[in-house]
Amino acid sequence: MQQLPHHQFDLGVALGPIEMCVVVPVLNERDNIIELIHRIETTLSGVAWEVMFVDDGSTDGTPELISTLAAGDRRVRLIRRFNRRGLSSAVIEGMLASTAPILAVIDGDLQHDEALLPEFRRAIMEGGDVAIGTRYAEGGSTGQWAQSRVYVSKVATRLATMLTGAAISDPMSGFFAISREKFTELAPNLSGIGYKILLDILSSSRSPMNIVEYPYVFRTRKHGESKLDSTVVLNYIEMLAEKRVGRFIPIKFIKFSAVGALGLIVHMSILSLLLKLSAGFGVAQLCAVISAMTFNFFLNNSFTYRDQRLKGLPMLAGLLSFYAVCGLGAIANVGVGQWVFDSSYEWWLAGLAGAAIGSVWNYTMGNLLTWRKRR
Ligand code: GDD
Ligand code: MN
Repeated sequence: MQQLPHHQFDLGVALGPIEMCVVVPVLNERDNIIELIHRIETTLSGVAWEVMFVDDGSTDGTPELISTLAAGDRRVRLIRRFNRRGLSSAVIEGMLASTAPILAVIDGDLQHDEALLPEFRRAIMEGGDVAIGTRYAEGGSTGQWAQSRVYVSKVATRLATMLTGAAISDPMSGFFAISREKFTELAPNLSGIGYKILLDILSSSRSPMNIVEYPYVFRTRKHGESKLDSTVVLNYIEMLAEKRVGRFIPIKFIKFSAVGALGLIVHMSILSLLLKLSAGFGVAQLCAVISAMTFNFFLNNSFTYRDQRLKGLPMLAGLLSFYAVCGLGAIANVGVGQWVFDSSYEWWLAGLAGAAIGSVWNYTMGNLLTWRKRR
C-alpha cells in the first residue's frame, strides 16, 4: 500500500477502516430496505461493515428512503443511476465505490440468507478468492419455485458450467463475496451485461480461483416483484455469446445479419406474391425492397438495438435514415458485385462479395447514423 501524506489528513478524527461492504442492487424494493439493514446489522455485529445500495431509477421511493437512512448512519450508502438498467453493472459499480477488503453482494428483496455473510467474511479472510451461496449443494434449495423456473435455472446453470469449466454448483447465484484483490484484478475485463455477475467473474479469471460454497435455501419474496423477465434472459444468452465469439465478431453484427437474412425471405416472398398478382417486375421489386427495409428496420430496432431502441419522432427519422443507408448499401453491393464479376466471371462469388460488402456497409452506417449512441 502507498504511504499516505499524513499532513493532508487528520487521522486523529478519522474512523477505522471498513472491513466488509455489502452491495445491494435495488429496483423498486422500498418495503424491504429497512428490514434488510436490520438483518445485516444483526448478522454482522462486531464487524465494521457498510451497505452500498445501487439504485437504477426506482419509482416507488426506494432511493428517497435510503437517502434518509444514509443521512443518519454513515454505514448506509447509496449510488443512484439514471437511464441505466442492469444488475451486473450495478453490482460492479457498487463494488468499485467501496474500499473494503471484502466485497459481498446480496439481493435487496430478502430472498438470500444473510446469515451466510459472516461465513463469506471468514472464507475471504482465510485466503479465499470467492465465497458463494449455493441453492444446489447438499443443504441448499430453491425453496418454493415453480417447476418451470427450476428447470430454466438448471439449464442455464448447465450452460454456465460448460462455459466456465468451473466445477461449482450454482454459478448463477446472485449471492456471494469476493476479495477486493481479486475483484480489482478482474474488474477491467468484466462485461457488465445482463444479470449474471458471478458467472462473468468466474469466466474472466485467468488463474484458477480459490472458491468456497455455502448452501442456503432461497426464500420467497414478500414485498415487491421479480425483475427477471424475458429481456433479462435474452441479455444472459447475449452475454454467453459475447464471451464465446464477441472477441472476433461483434454480437450486434451477428444479430444484424440474422435480421438481414430474414429480410431476404420477406423480400423474396413479396416479390413472388406481387409477380403472381401480375405486377410488373420493376414495381414488384420496388415494393419488395421497401417492405424488406421496413421489416429490417423494425426488427433491428426492437431486437439488435434493443438497448438503444428508437421511439416516437426519432424512430421515424431513424427509419428514413435507414432507407438512405440501405439504398447506398445496395449501390455498393451492386458495384462490388459487378467488379468481382468482371474480374472472375464467377456469378456466385460476385453475388456473395456484393452481399457481404452491402451488409457490412449497412451495419456500419446503421451504427453511425440510425442507431448512433447519443451522449
Ligand atoms: N440496480 C438494479 N438494477 N437492481 C436490480 C435490477 C437493475 O436493473 N434488476 C433487479 N435488481 C435488483 C432487485 O431489486 C433485487 O434486489 C435483486 O436485484 C434481484 O432481482 P430479482 O428481480 O428479485 O431477481 P430474482 O429473485 O428473480 O433472481 C434471483 O435469482 C437469480 C438466479 O436464478 C437473483 O438472486 C439473481 O441475482 C440470481 O442470479
Ligand atoms: Mn428476487
